[in-house]
This record gives sequence, C-alpha cells and structure tokens, in this order.
Amino acid sequence: MRKTIIVSNRLPVKISETNGEYTLQPSEGGLATGLGSIYREGNNIWIGWPGQEITDQKDQDKVTKQLRKINLMPVYLTQDEINNFYEGFSNETLWPVFHYMAVYAHYEQSYWDAYYQVNKKFRDIIMKVAEPGDTIWIHDYQLLLLPGMIRAEMPEISIGFFQHIPFPSFELFRLIPWRAEILEGMLGADLMGFHTFDDTRHFLNAASRILPVNTSANVVSYNDRAIVVETFPMGIDYNKYAEMGKDPEVLQQVQNLRENFGNDRLVLSIDRLDYSKGILQRLQAFELLLQLHPEYIGKVVLYMIVVPSRDQVPQYKELRDEIDKQVGNINARFRTLAWHPIQYFYRSFPFETLSALYNFADICLVTPMRDGMNLVSKEYVASRSNNDGVLILSEMAGASKELIDAIIVNPNNIGAITRAIVDALNMPLPEQQRRMKQMRSVVSKFNINHWVKLFMTRLQEVNEMQKNMLARRVNQETAVLIRQQYFNSKKRIIFLDYDGTLVGFQPNIDQASPDPDLYQLLRELASIPGNDLVMISGRNHETLGEWFGHLDLDLIAEHGAWQKTKSGEWYQLPGLTDKWKKELLPIMELATDRTPGSFIEEKSYSLVWHYRKVESGLGELRANELMNTLRYYTVEKGLQVLPGDKVIEVKNVEINKGKAALSWLNHKKYDFIMAMGDDVTDEDIFKALPHKAITIKVGSQVSAAQYYLRSYHEVRHLLRTLRNRE
Ligand code: UDP
Ligand code: G6P
Repeated sequence: MRKTIIVSNRLPVKISETNGEYTLQPSEGGLATGLGSIYREGNNIWIGWPGQEITDQKDQDKVTKQLRKINLMPVYLTQDEINNFYEGFSNETLWPVFHYMAVYAHYEQSYWDAYYQVNKKFRDIIMKVAEPGDTIWIHDYQLLLLPGMIRAEMPEISIGFFQHIPFPSFELFRLIPWRAEILEGMLGADLMGFHTFDDTRHFLNAASRILPVNTSANVVSYNDRAIVVETFPMGIDYNKYAEMGKDPEVLQQVQNLRENFGNDRLVLSIDRLDYSKGILQRLQAFELLLQLHPEYIGKVVLYMIVVPSRDQVPQYKELRDEIDKQVGNINARFRTLAWHPIQYFYRSFPFETLSALYNFADICLVTPMRDGMNLVSKEYVASRSNNDGVLILSEMAGASKELIDAIIVNPNNIGAITRAIVDALNMPLPEQQRRMKQMRSVVSKFNINHWVKLFMTRLQEVNEMQKNMLARRVNQETAVLIRQQYFNSKKRIIFLDYDGTLVGFQPNIDQASPDPDLYQLLRELASIPGNDLVMISGRNHETLGEWFGHLDLDLIAEHGAWQKTKSGEWYQLPGLTDKWKKELLPIMELATDRTPGSFIEEKSYSLVWHYRKVESGLGELRANELMNTLRYYTVEKGLQVLPGDKVIEVKNVEINKGKAALSWLNHKKYDFIMAMGDDVTDEDIFKALPHKAITIKVGSQVSAAQYYLRSYHEVRHLLRTLRNRE
C-alpha cells in the first residue's frame, strides 16, 4: 500500500528519562495535530529527531521500539551533530539570515559539513522505508538539502516541502556561501510551500538569479522537472482552542487569574526565547507606556512567558540575560507594594494554562521582528469565544497577512507599540467584537486541517501535471516512433528554428554562429535523398544567408519576410512596408537609452528590442513598459508586438512563421513533416501544420506542440539518429 512519510527535524513527541526508563509524551503542537490524521494511519510514518541525546545502543533500541508503535521513526543525533548541524548551521547560519538578522550569522565550513551529513543521515533512514508510489512531505529549514538528496535516489517519488520560517529577500539569501547548493536541494521537491506570498516571491527570485533555471509565474523548470512554488498560510486547530474555554480545569484557572489580578488589565506575551521575537523591544514599549501614562501604574500588567529554546547558542544566552536585566529594571522602577508591572516566566506551561491565559487576557501583544507565521496570535483569536479582546500584531509576522483586523504595528517603532497598547486598552467593546469576529472567521476557516488538505491535494495535482508532461517528452519510445515514421517515408520536410533550437542562447547575438558540429549534422541530413531541410528563423536574411546559404537548405528569414529555396535567390513577401519603423524606432531608442545592456536589432520588416544582458528584473520591467507603449502605437498600423525570450519584436502581421511554413508544404506532397522550435513565434508553425506533422517544442513551457525536448543538445541528438537507420 502506498504510504505517506512525514519528515521534520523534531518528532512530535517529548521524551523524558528517569532511572534509565524512557517515557514518551506526544507533543500538542499545531503541526503534530494537523498531521496526526496522516501519520497515525496505516503504515504511514513520521521521521525525525527525538530531541534528546541517547547514546547507548540498547537505549536507542528501546526508544525506537516504543516510537515505532506510534508510527514514529527516530533519527538519533550525536552531540557533535547537535552542535554543528542543529545549533550550528540550522540556528547560527540559516535562522539569522532567514530572519533578516544577518549580523548574527556565522558561516562555518564545519557547520555546513555537518548540515550536509545530517541531511544525508535523514536520507538514508528514509531510503530504508520509502517505496515507489509513496509521498514524502519534508518540513522546514533544518532539512533543505533533503528533497534533492531523495530525488537523486528516487527520481519518480512524490516530494512536498514546506518551510515554516520566512524566506528572505535575495539580497540576504545571497550572503550564504552555500546558497546554490541549498536551492538545488530544495528544488528536489515537486511542490514547495511557504506561509506568505512574499516568501514565495523571494524564493522564486533567488532561484532564478542564482541557478540556471527558468521560472514562469510560480513554476520553476529545473533538471527537466516542473516544480510548483505556492503560498499556504498554516493554520491552527481552531476547535480545540475555541472549545477549551469550557473545560473545567481551564475555567478554574481563569477564576484563579481573576482572583489574582482583580480589575487589573492583562497584556499577554508568549514566545520561545528568540531574538526574532522582538521581546526586548516589547519590554521597552511597555516601559514607555508606564513612563508616559502613569495612570496605568497599578492597573496594567504585562504577563510574559518566554519558553526556553536553543539556550546553548550564544545569542540566545545573551538574550536571556538581557531580558532578565530589563524585566528586573522595569519591575524595580515601577512596582508598588501590591503590584508588579511584569509577571515574567522563563519556562513552558501546559495547554490548559495557556488556554486560561488566552481566555483571560485583555490584550495579546505579538511583536516579532520577523516570524514565518506566528501561531500564538491565532491561538489567542481562536480562544476568544466572546469575541472580545484585542490583538496587537507585528506587520513582520506572516499572520499579519491574514489577521488584518488586528492593530498592526511596526515592531521597530517603540512609540507605535506603546500607542497601540493605549488604543487597545481604550478600544470600545463593539469595535473589539467587530475586529475579533472577522479574525475568528479567518482562523476558523483556514485551520490546520484545511492547510494539510490544500497542500496534499495540490501535491497530487502537481504530480499529475508532471506525469502528463513526461508523457509528452520525447523519450526512447517516442524517438523510436519518430524514427520509424521518418525511415518509412519518401518525401520529408523538416522545419528547424535556429536560436534556442539548434544552438544555445548567447549574451551577444552575433556570438551564436553555427559550430562545425552543427554544419556537419545539417550537411549530412540535407544530403539524404528525399529530405528537405528548412531553416526558419527570426534572424535577418543577410546573417542567415551568410551562415547557411552555401548548404543544401531552404531558408526562411525574419519570420517569413524573406525566403529562399536551395538553389534560388532571396525574395521578399510581396506588399510589405517598413515605413512604420521610422515612427517606432525612437520609442525603442528611448527604452535603450534608459536601460543599460539593452540594444535594438533592425531587420527589413521588423524591429527587435533585446534585453538579455540587462539586470534581471529591470529588463522585465522595461519590457513591460515598452510593450504597453508599443501596443498603443501599433494598433492601427497592422503591426504585431511579440514578446519572445528576452526580446520584444514588432513586425508586420502578415509575416508569420506559420504562414511561411504552410506555403512550403505546397511545393511537394510530403509524407513526413516535422518542426522544431523554442520560441513564441514557433507556436505559429506548430498550430499551422497539419495534424499528422510531428511538432517538437524545445523547453517545457505550455505549447501547441505535440512533444517537447529539453535543450538544443537533445535536438541535435534526435537529428543525429535520423542520419542512418542503425
Ligand atoms: N507554546 C507551548 N508551550 C508554552 C508556550 C507556547 O507549547 O509554554 C506553543 C504555542 O501554543 C504555539 C507555539 O508554542 O503553538 C509557538 O509557535 P509560534 O508559531 O508562535 O512560534 P515558534 O516557536 O514556532 O517560532
Ligand atoms: C520554529 C521552527 C521549527 C522549530 C521550532 C522550535 O517554529 O520553524 O522548525 O522546531 O521553531 O525550535 P527548536 O529549535 O526547538 O526545534
């Protein structure tokens, strides 16, 4: 039976040891709950680190046995791996860079080596259980190399990847010395998910700038695979939080809080110890509140829980000391005999206590400097069954994209946080309810089960799409069929585009001249009796003539404006005019003057603006602007504006590669027709040719062609097989 394998750095379980006995306690985290419906079923499995160093082999075996009973499989890490992989590369390199705190990042070769090795360790364990047809869902930044490593072993397996922390902008990501390897690892997945659209955008941008990949919208083509990158904001177990308020234990704890705090207003703050959470800035804002608004002294309490985390990493240790110091200062400065401004706890609490606090607190103050999502804000909202209470939320948390009815603040603006607390303390109940209702409906709908379902369904769809594409790729079987058809026919015509089809793209258009190998191939094919080879290109006729005029080929230049049969002379398509060029040239020149690296190519009946060498991003921006301007001018002139591969071409509408190709078919009665091309203009050929023709697109984008090949290398390979029957 096909199974699902979930992989994350941590297993959803807490292990504790007393006198050599290990007890397991399933963790209540959102991810564990959401994926619970998956990993507990059938022979599905969750693979990860149990979170504790267990060195003794016998102990490991004991724990493994216990874990296997609840569908979990451990990856044990040595102390060295914990230091270098977990604390090192994951939390001293990736975490700070991905959270825009690059000054905290350490780029250590030993960290990277351990990261690579531990990802391999995970791979080896996965390989022991993975079978063809299984689905693997990998989670988070500790395992970025894993998708690629598994893909290398099992090319057909379905892999999803979700990153729970932000993906930074290219300018930060590029700082990492191993950036290309990281992206290659991630691109082993079929579907990649991020919490927000910005993360998705940043990933696509980094991939297209760092690797030789093609991206169109949210699809990356890499190593002949289409990888879909999408936004899936993660939710929580809404019902659990909404209903927990009725639990007797929680009600009792709420009652205790009421007795303790009386009429004091409670501002709640819950985070893991982390510099990304903005805890120090929050303390400053609270101090400022007491300073500027002494009327709140004795009336408002900051209830602050900091959950211990990664305390072996130096920055975390320092942060803890700094929090202790600031809390001490503020309490010493403002406390009264009966009142402490800050109730600070450095430990974790059971779910019931958290729920009681969510239910009791007037305000939840969530002000991270950066946060992938932030679940605490959603848990607060879900717990507010009376629809009252105010959420103050940092605009740097992924959750702020969904919880737009919170009071949204910039966490660097201490004054703004202080003002937000004042606004929250004074917000009329109807306004609180209006905002809370809206937020509750969002959190309720986009809950954790919804998230899991969306991701898994999308992964299946992506796999279907990939299968269809694979079916269309010229593989060994289809190549045999093409050869059979070719060798069984007598009169054959082959249309070949030039740039991108027979040669690769060069930054300089003149550099893309034919090489000896290509000449040899074309010569041999053209000399086979019954073969008509037609070079059909957008290049100007002078260049095409110079390069191929001496071969036994028919030539169609400038998309059909100029044509030449093997032995004949060049002739032009009748009735064409080039008067429009005078008017449009200045528009293109303006774009060229504003865009370093761009240039204009002038042909008899067309103008082309090239931007291959322009800074990535700027070229596309200017191309869009130019397209809009050109469309305005060309509408009544019978001209067509064509976006191509890093070019924009304006030409007479009568000129069309499809029409030109069709006119060639009138020359003879062909029993084998084939066309190969890579660009938008080649689509006209694919559409115009009769049904029986074999049409092949170079590149795997959407196309009217029947088949596709990956590159000009594969085109040449296929053509070589047509030279003789063996
Ligand atoms: N949490 C917990 N015990 C505590 C305090 C918090 O289990 O004592 C949980 C909290 O309910 C939330 C999670 O820890 O589900 C924190 O998730 P969040 O996305 O806010 O931050 P992260 O720690 O993932 O950066
Ligand atoms: C964040 C990360 C998780 C990580 C968690 C706790 O939520 O996205 O991958 O497990 O923090 O951090 P820890 O280092 O204790 O696993």
